[in-house]
Amino acid sequence: MSQTSAVAPLPLLSRRSQGLRGRVRVPGDKSMSHRALMFGAVALGETTIRGLLEAEDVINTARAMTALGASAVRGPDGVWRVQGVGVAGLRSPAQPLDFGNSGTGVRLAMGLMATTPLTATCVGDASLSRRPMGRVTVPLSAFGARFETAEGGRLPITLHGARNPVPVAYTLPVASAQVKSAVLLAGLNAPGRTTVIEPTPTRDHTERMLKGFGARLAVEHKPDGRHITIEGQHELTAQALDVPGDPSSAAFPMVAALVTAGSEIVIENIMLNPTRTGLIDTLIEMGGSIAIENRRLAGGEEVGDLHVKASRLRGVTVPAVRAPSMIDEYPILSVAASFADGTTRMEGLEELRVKESDRLAAVEAGLAANGVTTRSGRDWLEVDGGGADGRKLGGGTVVTHMDHRIAMSFLVMGFAAASATRVDDSRFIATSFPDFTGLMNGMGAKIEAPDR
Ligand code: S3P
Repeated sequence: MSQTSAVAPLPLLSRRSQGLRGRVRVPGDKSMSHRALMFGAVALGETTIRGLLEAEDVINTARAMTALGASAVRGPDGVWRVQGVGVAGLRSPAQPLDFGNSGTGVRLAMGLMATTPLTATCVGDASLSRRPMGRVTVPLSAFGARFETAEGGRLPITLHGARNPVPVAYTLPVASAQVKSAVLLAGLNAPGRTTVIEPTPTRDHTERMLKGFGARLAVEHKPDGRHITIEGQHELTAQALDVPGDPSSAAFPMVAALVTAGSEIVIENIMLNPTRTGLIDTLIEMGGSIAIENRRLAGGEEVGDLHVKASRLRGVTVPAVRAPSMIDEYPILSVAASFADGTTRMEGLEELRVKESDRLAAVEAGLAANGVTTRSGRDWLEVDGGGADGRKLGGGTVVTHMDHRIAMSFLVMGFAAASATRVDDSRFIATSFPDFTGLMNGMGAKIEAPDR
């Protein structure tokens, strides 16, 4: 049984640890894993994927692609094989498509389906059903797709793909790789050229990977931002893909090693695409000892090993322009900031309000429960560091709000805080990092089930 389908919450407790030690690998990148399955599903031929993230969010995408007519199957060798159906080949699924907890899964899939004449109902869990979907249904309607939505434009949503799609030019109103990708994927089966204008750069895996699949895609840098143009109705060619480790998952052992005295670890094979490395830059600015070793290119992405040693950190200001390159990393950065000398100020956080939880509110509540002083506004957060010894920190129970990154962040806090931290529910860790507890405890951490 998967963890999130367990009915009862699974609380966990994390105690102060000795130094963490080891060489580890974290699971494959989530953004690339979703995309590899989806692009493989509409390519011609068999796409093979090594290193796919086998976590609930991605498995839901694999099931959705199979329900749409493209089979995605794991071989006994751990390699996933996707039989693609071509850019116009998806068909109506017999059942609703369940995307679980994943905004990336549902928003990109809606893009992929929007220009094919099929009907599909998309559903998700309580967290996903609260998140805004108008940001994709509005531009996808411009292609000719129609949507029946629940109140507020939210899930469940029934999508009717356009029979005679038209191409679209769209300027992103929010800095969102999911919205950019949904529009580009709709462009795959629209005639002519679809253009997305991106005023603030966001992760560019869609552009890189689509080019690898042979899409006619061009990027131009203009005064109003990046113009990404795709020529529709050209077939994609199946690829052999290798997914490197997810920097957003590496963030947890990385911060754990920085804040836990006596630690020295190596996290191998991490994707270092510059649109994803904002946290590493920030932690180095804070005085963190993070060396990138063995830099290389793999599958069109820069990859390296992160050598991390416990460090005395100091507070910094993290500017808004950096937010898209570390948008999922603010909860764990806030934990690092709790052990720094001085105050850390983070700006440009408005998108944190609409993630798996309202992450700004969830982080503040979790920090307050563990003795950390914070101040915040609509789109900023200040965290007063308690110093490297974590003397006054810990002792609180954190409400995770169905959010994997809130759960993992506050378990990391417990490694270096004076008193243990608790999270009310760890089930959602399975959406992105199923063996988080095993990996951390294998390096010397003490995460355990609390006594009842
Ligand atoms: C993702 C984009 C980001 C990120 C999410 C994954 C992607 O979301 O938070 O975890 O794979 O495109 P937004 O595009 O909504 O910022």
